[in-house]
Amino acid sequence: MAATKPKYVIGNWKLNPASLSEAKALAQALRSALADQVHVKLGCAPGFLHLPEVAAVLADSSIWVGAQDLSANTGATGAFTGDVSAAQLVDAGARFVIVGHSERRQYQGEDNGLLAKKIQQAIDADLVVILCVGETQSQYQAGETLSVLDHQLSVLEGLGVPRSQLIIAYEPVWAIGTGLTPTVDEVVAVHRHIQAVLSDKQLPDVCVLYGGSVNADNAQAFASAPEVAGALVGGASLKADAFAQIVAAFEAA
Ligand code: PGA
Repeated sequence: MAATKPKYVIGNWKLNPASLSEAKALAQALRSALADQVHVKLGCAPGFLHLPEVAAVLADSSIWVGAQDLSANTGATGAFTGDVSAAQLVDAGARFVIVGHSERRQYQGEDNGLLAKKIQQAIDADLVVILCVGETQSQYQAGETLSVLDHQLSVLEGLGVPRSQLIIAYEPVWAIGTGLTPTVDEVVAVHRHIQAVLSDKQLPDVCVLYGGSVNADNAQAFASAPEVAGALVGGASLKADAFAQIVAAFEAA
């Protein structure tokens, strides 16, 4: 029998909270709320400034800390004003990095050329990459979802990303922060497509998470689908009790 694939519930804190003391309090609350879970792999991605102290709060816990972005220009050090490198992230305690979130594609104009460099830097530093893909509302309405995803996933070509260092998060842009979600059937169909595309790229059995308005009420429906290997959670990851309920849904599945 094939080994059961791990499930992941990862919190993306985005540009929250405002202060380091609030970030540490949230990390402490997560640590307390999640002390009992055993199977699901957990992570949270605070902002750069909060990352080292959040990692210290979560040291020796089962909760990974990761970053929301990294430098495309260097993995180490150099004359790249404002950048944060993969080596600095590892030094600060990061185990993974989110790459290609739709907010960065939208507000920073990140495209496959840039994202390929970021993925390479992360892989070289032994970070796990959570690559976000997803269509906009107009692309969804035009029936272009799968072709958009094919293009976004083509960033992996030629990078030699090890399977063990890659997680995909399918996040329809129109579902992020809106309270709207696709149906579970729609998500399952998309996840199967992503798995097939990845298998063609010699990346079988990569975990594919769903993200976009996952909350304590709908988590169980997504968790019940074996194709959904977990969730990338924005808003609901800022409240320890809501996040713990989402984790519990995947833990039970
Ligand atoms: P949301 O965000 O859960 O607030 O919709 C998800 C994400 O952007 O990763």
